[in-house]
Amino acid sequence: MSVVVVGSLNRDVVTRVAHVPGPGETVLATDLVRTAGGKGGNQAVAAKRAGGARVAFIGAIGADADGRVLRDALAADDIDVSGIEVVDAPTGTALISVADDGENAIVVAPGANAQRTALTEHQRTLVADARVLVTQLEIPAALVLDAASARGSAIHVLNAAPSQPVADGGAELLATVDVLIVNEHEMRDLSGRTDIEAGVDDLLGRVPVIVVTLGSAGCLVATPEGRRRVAAFPVDAVDTTGAGDTFCGVFAARLAAGGTAVPHLDLLVDAARAGAAAASLSVQRPGAQDSVPTAREVDVLLEAGGRR
Ligand code: RIB
Ligand code: NA
Repeated sequence: MSVVVVGSLNRDVVTRVAHVPGPGETVLATDLVRTAGGKGGNQAVAAKRAGGARVAFIGAIGADADGRVLRDALAADDIDVSGIEVVDAPTGTALISVADDGENAIVVAPGANAQRTALTEHQRTLVADARVLVTQLEIPAALVLDAASARGSAIHVLNAAPSQPVADGGAELLATVDVLIVNEHEMRDLSGRTDIEAGVDDLLGRVPVIVVTLGSAGCLVATPEGRRRVAAFPVDAVDTTGAGDTFCGVFAARLAAGGTAVPHLDLLVDAARAGAAAASLSVQRPGAQDSVPTAREVDVLLEAGGRR
């Protein structure tokens, strides 16, 4: 398997609003839809649609209709779903408000995603066979650690999202990580630094590669070899839900194309450019998994150099 994602699946219940409500405020939505989401599922779809990679997803759903819909959605994208367990809790749900400017606010009820802290034998076999293992923090940290322990020679890409306190400041977790992908908030929480460069200085002592995603400002790729900025592709965002996941999945698929060694800075930057292109396409469409572009669309944008 080229890419194995261990992570969350959520039924996204999405309302469209003029603005995201503040504390104590009620707003009327203009639309409500149910779509397929969850950071893990979104990343698996992005890795698969990037082309070329065989992708497996490992996670948990409840014995309910939402769980079936989510599993079927991944299977329809040709993702190996044999590592999805049905557990005794409702399928994860994300309550999402998307504002007219494309920004969002999300509350996640983890449900089934929180039920497992260790892999099954079959799941371990899938992970052991991976070139790239992708994890996030919408599942228990103990499960991420267990997956890392099963990974054989795979590159471990941790997207430390959503931002949340991890035991011992994440020391045990970070010790298993080859590539850390964080946004500015997550970087601050892990490093304790508000300045991006200072945060990268701190984290580079703990993991070999860091990618800091900066939304419409692109991203920063940092290794002991050097630091490079990757510009974002200018777009009008209608829904940014899952943009970070799209970046991570496409980035992971590009790494997997090169094998199980962490690549040099130039190739990491290429992977990040592809991820940024895919993310910028995804924010122009509603939904999380629904909005992940195909490899062809990404190539067209990369060839155009971001012009439009
Ligand atoms: O990162 C976006 C995802 O976060 C959504 O699909 C939602 O399910 C939440 O998990
Ligand atoms: Na989107």
